[in-house]
Amino acid sequence: MENITEQIKKRRTFAIISHPDAGKTTLTEKFLLYGGAINLAGTVKGRKAAKHAVSDWMEIEKERGISVTSSVLQFNYDGYCINILDTPGHQDFSEDTYRTLMAADSAVMVIDASKGVEAQTIKLFKVCLLRNIPIFTFINKMDREARDPFELMDEIESVLGIKTCPVNWPIGCGKNFKGVYDRNAKNITTFTAAMGGQKEVAAREFGIESEDVDSIIGPDYHQQLLEDIELLDGASDEFDMELVSQGKLSPAFFGSALTNFGVETFLTHFLQMTTSPLPRKTTTGIVDPFDNNFSAFVFKIQANMNKAHRDRIAFMRICSGKFQAGMEVNHVQGGRKIRLSQPQQMMAQDRKIVEEAYAGDIIGVFDPGIFSIGDTLCTGADKVEFEGIPTFAPEHFARVRQMDTMKRKQFIKGISQIAQEGAIQIFQEFNTGMEEIIVGVVGVLQFEVLTYRLENEYNVEVRLDKLPYEYIRWIENKDELDVAKIQGTSDMKRIKDLRDNPLLLFINSWSVGMVLDRNPGLKLSEFGRNN
Ligand code: G4P
Repeated sequence: MENITEQIKKRRTFAIISHPDAGKTTLTEKFLLYGGAINLAGTVKGRKAAKHAVSDWMEIEKERGISVTSSVLQFNYDGYCINILDTPGHQDFSEDTYRTLMAADSAVMVIDASKGVEAQTIKLFKVCLLRNIPIFTFINKMDREARDPFELMDEIESVLGIKTCPVNWPIGCGKNFKGVYDRNAKNITTFTAAMGGQKEVAAREFGIESEDVDSIIGPDYHQQLLEDIELLDGASDEFDMELVSQGKLSPAFFGSALTNFGVETFLTHFLQMTTSPLPRKTTTGIVDPFDNNFSAFVFKIQANMNKAHRDRIAFMRICSGKFQAGMEVNHVQGGRKIRLSQPQQMMAQDRKIVEEAYAGDIIGVFDPGIFSIGDTLCTGADKVEFEGIPTFAPEHFARVRQMDTMKRKQFIKGISQIAQEGAIQIFQEFNTGMEEIIVGVVGVLQFEVLTYRLENEYNVEVRLDKLPYEYIRWIENKDELDVAKIQGTSDMKRIKDLRDNPLLLFINSWSVGMVLDRNPGLKLSEFGRNN
């Protein structure tokens, strides 16, 4: 029986961030292959298609065959216990995608080598920056025509503002992809595609000094590689583990998830460089993961898993100690003790009951409607409170109109509960009360979810009138100024949230800068603080 410390030490909890189609699903499925969690790569993909059949919640999800919420994959590899947090991507991109990053200890950034840094990667990256977590870069699809690797490194640096340190370096790309050069071991691994569920890559490795280099990769690529190495050694940032762990330097790897080239090398290096669960900040200090007392915070609430009961599952990240099924804990924000019953762990779409879990793990517990995003649960005499999860900027806004004004009460109840789960954010006109409700969402699918749920769960019909705003900013120094007197632009609108915090909406991004120019001292933020 391993003790708690050993269990926690072997945990690695991370999220994969990328723009849709960069290869996140493919890479995940190759990781699972190495972990033995699946026998044939392709299962995760299959899961996507099979969702019609297995998903038991929310018609909307069935109709569209997409997942509205994210899940966690846990598997063991090489003595590590790995938790991959799935960040919803395509149409189901939502605030949950951002919040999931709050539960991760590090992130893997997958970049399509032909495209470089794309919009969704930028958004997710900004959230990682908030917490300074280590970020590892996997430049994918080298088996296809790719952009110049130096150019890609420059782009990551200039667009994302993080320095990179290539661990390996590609030799050619596409039809002429010869393999990668390991800068540390100073050897070349030649490219061989391992398709399907093949684990072993029949690659050859040999030193850069070997006489065979010319004949295997060709004299031109050999020459190019020597020049690249010289340039890299002279110009790129040196590997510095301290900077990596602060999220200031990203180790970069090149490979091809589809053909399973460079995936295991990446996984091995990544697991060594990333950390076991990190200490977490509370309002009163730091909680160490190895602390004997259990503590966790809620980062996601998923509604209506079972249509027969209007239940919710609260997903929490364990920050310290050990969890045992049925244990009694303090629900700090609720101010009372509760028993954590029906704990679940998500393995892809399958739910299984967990008996025990450790710091670093994610569990889902039955929520009778008492939890809010960011709530803390803990045991022990000292009641800690983890720092709140920020509110992320919605990008789509609509005015909500109720069709039957007699159902005002249900409407307010429904929309408030859905907002409490964190699926939407609700705002009001700056100068009036609840009569006019403006709803903001990160992904447009949430509008459909809102309409559907209000109708099906609360029996309230609504109409959404889309508003043209795309940018929202919280006013950080709201107490130091008179919000009504802010010199705005013609496309600016003042609103407030339910806690009466003032916010500004804009149609154009450049208006944000203009308003800052016109109002010296005004401080705006893309993130809202919850405590
Ligand atoms: P995502 O989760 O980030 O959205 O990406 P996903 O893994 O679904 O990959 C998107 C597409 O890119 C898929 O093709 C996938 O096969 C392909 N792909 C992923 N990694 C590589 C790679 O290393 N090399 C090449 N050449 N392609 C890669 P698709 O045609 O959209 O889907 P499918 O028909 O293969 O299922």
